[in-house]
Amino acid sequence: SLAALGTLETICRELAVQAGELIVRERPADLGVAATKSSATDVVTVMDRRSEQLLQEQLRQRRPHDGILGEEGASVEGTSGITWIVDPIDGTVNYLYDIPAYAVSVAACVGDPGGEWQSVAGAVFNPVSGELFHARRGGGAFLRSTGPAASVTALFVSGESALGQALTGTGFGYDPDKRAQQARILTRVLPRVRDIRRAGSAALDLCAVAAGRLDVYYESGLNAWDRAAGQLIVTEAGGVVRGVGSQPSRELTLAGPTVLVDALHDVLESAGH
Ligand code: IPD
Repeated sequence: SLAALGTLETICRELAVQAGELIVRERPADLGVAATKSSATDVVTVMDRRSEQLLQEQLRQRRPHDGILGEEGASVEGTSGITWIVDPIDGTVNYLYDIPAYAVSVAACVGDPGGEWQSVAGAVFNPVSGELFHARRGGGAFLRSTGPAASVTALFVSGESALGQALTGTGFGYDPDKRAQQARILTRVLPRVRDIRRAGSAALDLCAVAAGRLDVYYESGLNAWDRAAGQLIVTEAGGVVRGVGSQPSRELTLAGPTVLVDALHDVLESAGH
């Protein structure tokens, strides 16, 4: 029901903000120094884990019958049919370098998180900018600015229809073999679009599409937690999210207005994606 979805959306918002505030407040000041040392990744992992622990504790308390799936290994099987798919820090490398483009992503999903699932509520919070993106199924997508200049705006995807004019977001996975293929595909996409942005957080990229800050986006190799909240925010902002077929997958996620997504899909296909 609508009321139930509203409750789930509220939890998404509250937890994304709580965990986001934690990772900013507790970000070690010397993390930039650590970046040049072998311990760098461990420091980040500690904060990823703490954020996920907070999310998991809160969810178990507030939603004891729901499942949980998290990037850092949270894996709780529920009995209610709802699974929370969470990314405790999306944009980990930005977090490491203090580039203000990282976020906490929290989504409530139905279906089988190992197979076919759909998000029904989601929130993505960038704790540095204070921007909170959120949606519930059928309820539209919104951007709330927290802090002194608090405001709420409804989100709509770009009205651009020409791929050649489309500012296009993408990202790259960490696997070097897959990166070579992603780089080859990029050489075929770049000449066909206005320009490319690689901001470093898939969750925020999807929210940027929802807000019309990017016209279109594609990436291969995304995990469920990278996109669970963001993909609902895009569709609730009037866009489509698809993959090679009609559903986004690890193989490919495309997001934006239908006309741009279809045009970009054709370019990727002819590039041998
Ligand atoms: C990564 C970011 C990045 C994307 C990678 C993701 P993480 O997530 O979203 O933008 O290109 O595919 O793995 O590791 O920072 O949570």
